[in-house]
Amino acid sequence: TAPVTVAIDGPSGSGKSTVSRGLASALGLAYLDTGAMYRAATWWCRRQGVDLDSADAVTAAVAVMPLEMGIDPAAPAVVCDGVDITAEIRGSDISSIVSVVATNLDVRAELRERQRAIIAAERRAAGFSEGRGIVAEGRDITTVVAPDADVRILLTADEEARLARRARELHGSDDPDSLAATHAEVVGRDARDSTVSTFLTAADGVVTIDSSRMDAARTLEVALGVVEQVR
Ligand code: C5P
Repeated sequence: TAPVTVAIDGPSGSGKSTVSRGLASALGLAYLDTGAMYRAATWWCRRQGVDLDSADAVTAAVAVMPLEMGIDPAAPAVVCDGVDITAEIRGSDISSIVSVVATNLDVRAELRERQRAIIAAERRAAGFSEGRGIVAEGRDITTVVAPDADVRILLTADEEARLARRARELHGSDDPDSLAATHAEVVGRDARDSTVSTFLTAADGVVTIDSSRMDAARTLEVALGVVEQVR
């Protein structure tokens, strides 16, 4: 089969990562978590002692960031400067400041080129007769990084569903205290992120999947159906 690029965007808590990894596993494709690249850039700037308020210093640091992105959907490791930061970059100290780095347009240009290179390499991956293909997830994959992707999906969910999912993920519960703590992180971050990317509404030709009232297994099933239609 010919290589396929699947682009998936959506806000935090939409179920993007679960669906993207599930799709890549089911279809034998590589997986790219572009959010992890922005998280890694944030980690790298902090490690280098860069003042996040200085856009030029952030840009210069990210330009030379030694980042290796794992593309195995079963265990996508993120290694920066030889350090495995896969778990660390999910923490709230990175989540709370990542938007500062991700709204720097020069940083976006740099990471966009790296993302395109990874996607292109997977489409012609060695060991696959016609190349392989990749599922890439983020906020601007369907619109900016890979607007020519074979399959483009916007995964949405209403705010209540997204907050409940994130609260369970971050705090192990969706009781009122956990929901309140999650609200500040998720809603604030999406608001900041949406100043540079339009991931809250689908661009032309992008298929919207609303996961508000579907569990992860059902959402994956629906996404697989969308991919099968074009494959
Ligand atoms: O998807 P995740 O929550 O890990 O993304 C972390 C952050 O990376 C987002 O809040 C956003 O600031 C940034 N991001 C982005 N563009 C992407 C993916 C992520 O700006 N394509």
